[in-house]
Amino acid sequence: MTQYSKRMVIVHWLTLVLLIAAWYLGDSLADSTDESKATLAGYIVHIAVGGTVLLLTAFRFYFRNNDGVPKPMGVSPMDKLAKGVHYLLYTVLFVLPLSGIVILLTSKAGPALLAFDATMLPKEHGYRGVFAHEIHEQLVNVLIALVVLHVLGAIKHQFIDKDGLMERMMLRRKD
Ligand code: HEM
Ligand code: HEM
Repeated sequence: MTQYSKRMVIVHWLTLVLLIAAWYLGDSLADSTDESKATLAGYIVHIAVGGTVLLLTAFRFYFRNNDGVPKPMGVSPMDKLAKGVHYLLYTVLFVLPLSGIVILLTSKAGPALLAFDATMLPKEHGYRGVFAHEIHEQLVNVLIALVVLHVLGAIKHQFIDKDGLMERMMLRRKD
């Protein structure tokens, strides 16, 4: 096996698109909360996109176990670092959306959504003291840092090592 299965490739790139959308939507939501203008729709869209990331990550593990993965590129310290970054990325892909669910359970946002009443949503400083909100926000920064490292690694393989690593995560089959 020299490439990831097609469904692993699709989930990998779809996750990238959904993460960009969830990040943008989450940031807009936080801005509207600061202005005490958050809407139920704003919450629902962010939760739907972020929740899809969680679901896709669960499917991804099922696909990974069933389809297998290509052999590691090598055993150098850089290869081990890349593997460590993959583990951390997977961890954040689970814990970040889960922390979002905990925000709903531990703040006024959950009851507001259940009652479908926008006036009950947290207003400016409404998330003060909500620990899961702090974690959620920090995990987004951790995710960005990990993705930057990950992409730098891919660029090194593509333009310096020129070893065809990118083809492993592409739909076009080599054979
Ligand atoms: C991996 C997917 C996700 C990403 C990238 C993401 C990203 C973000 C970002 C950037 C913020 C703004 C944080 C701030 O600056 O205060 C945010 C806020 C929030 N997110 Fe997520 N999120 C994700 C998944 C979820 C899920 C699944 C839920 C709920 C089930 C959720 C619930 C919330 C809530 C309640 C807030 C607070 C909104 C506010 O501050 O007004 N998120 N998210
Ligand atoms: C432009 C952005 C990206 C590029 C160019 C890229 C490229 C790649 C490549 C080439 C691989 C295969 C590595 C190998 O075979 O050793 C890979 C694997 C992986 N990527 Fe990305 N990636 C990107 C974005 C992301 C994002 C946003 C995430 C998740 C947050 C992510 C998570 C992963 C994980 C977890 C693996 C390991 C797959 C496994 O073995 O199960 N990638 N990526």
